[in-house]
Amino acid sequence: MKEQSSRADVRPALSPGDMADRFQRTRHLSRDLVQGLNEADAAVQSMPDASPAKWHLAHTTWFFETFLLRDHVPGYRLHDPRWPFLFNSYYEAEGARLARPERGLLTRPTLADVLDYRAHVEAAMLEAMPLLLERHGELVELGIQHEQQHQELLLTDIKHLFSRNPLGPAYAAPSPPASTPARSAPLRWIEGPEGLAEIGAGPDERFAFDNELPRHPAWLAPHALANRPVTNGEWIEFIADQGYGTAALWLSDGWDWVRGAAGGLETVSAPLYWRGGGRQWEQFTLAGWQDVDPEAPVTHISFYEADAFATWAGARLPTEHEWEAAARGRDPLGGLQLDRAGPAAPRAEEEVDGFASLYGNVWEWTGSAYRPWPGYRPAAGAVGEYNGKFMSSQFVLRGGSCATPRGHVRPSYRNFFHPHQRWQFTGLRLARSL
Ligand SMILES: [Fe+2]
Repeated sequence: MKEQSSRADVRPALSPGDMADRFQRTRHLSRDLVQGLNEADAAVQSMPDASPAKWHLAHTTWFFETFLLRDHVPGYRLHDPRWPFLFNSYYEAEGARLARPERGLLTRPTLADVLDYRAHVEAAMLEAMPLLLERHGELVELGIQHEQQHQELLLTDIKHLFSRNPLGPAYAAPSPPASTPARSAPLRWIEGPEGLAEIGAGPDERFAFDNELPRHPAWLAPHALANRPVTNGEWIEFIADQGYGTAALWLSDGWDWVRGAAGGLETVSAPLYWRGGGRQWEQFTLAGWQDVDPEAPVTHISFYEADAFATWAGARLPTEHEWEAAARGRDPLGGLQLDRAGPAAPRAEEEVDGFASLYGNVWEWTGSAYRPWPGYRPAAGAVGEYNGKFMSSQFVLRGGSCATPRGHVRPSYRNFFHPHQRWQFTGLRLARSL
């Protein structure tokens, strides 16, 4: 998921002890996520969109070191003054940095060096926590939320890396099979609210990124959303019906993409990580190659594929307003989200008050362009730099995935990716106009 900045009107209401605890639990989870990786696993970059696991570990640490320790703790000395060049992602205000596609060249510092860096910064953060929370609690919270976003990226980047290895290594052993295999509910349509809706983070949210603000009214036309995400079984029907070969189903850019896959070398005929054909499909997972489960939500599809499927199904993608109105008041801690290191993978879930998997499982593409809400103001300073500056040529996804740390998402949360990208756990839920 994308990194985003916050604004000063977030509400870090937790006590210093609670915040220190949240900080430590978040840091420990990142470390747990790389337990099974060797030095090379943690260093290699499989494509420019992805980053090495070691870089994620160091960059999230650089964030705390730069925006909290360096800026707000008198006398703090950088762990290594050469490293900000390596681990600044794209903050222009922080100066020159290593080009993104070259992150995989960092065979030094080693993974052990990076873990030492983490320990150094964690100790300094915990010592300074009371001081930092007095005046900069929103930045501490932002650093925690930022690291949670990178935990999901770390998993999806490792998955991509391992998928490119002909041996198909497993990041973790598969979860034990359930005694009764989960089945997806039959497709049903649930009418959404019509008329004026309040969109955006409200005063009840303890934290929100700046792109969720301000709350504002938006008009909802009559519509209905599917009770659950589209399944792998339904996707196989789309493939069998020549969905990937029927130009009329595709947006023009999408049709170009399907036929040339951006670089013009490869055509697209199935979700990312699928191989096989007919009714016999396998997919690469964090537990290695596995049979495609027809009951599980489809994942690793681009916006173009989601849009073409919706057209094929006689439906459309939801707007992000419709999605948010459906999610309002529902438990954002529910559903399949990341609780501990392991082989995150989508699976069929039961409905809760009508909807299955609104939160977690797979990010749901919406048909909404990623643009600012009316009255949007980016945060002041460097941490406000990049949310607004990425508001072109991307589409919004909602709901979180099986690799999103539990507690990280909420009704107003806006994730965003370019329409061809599909290495995140991306899926879709159908919508209809009434
Ligand atoms: Fe980041």
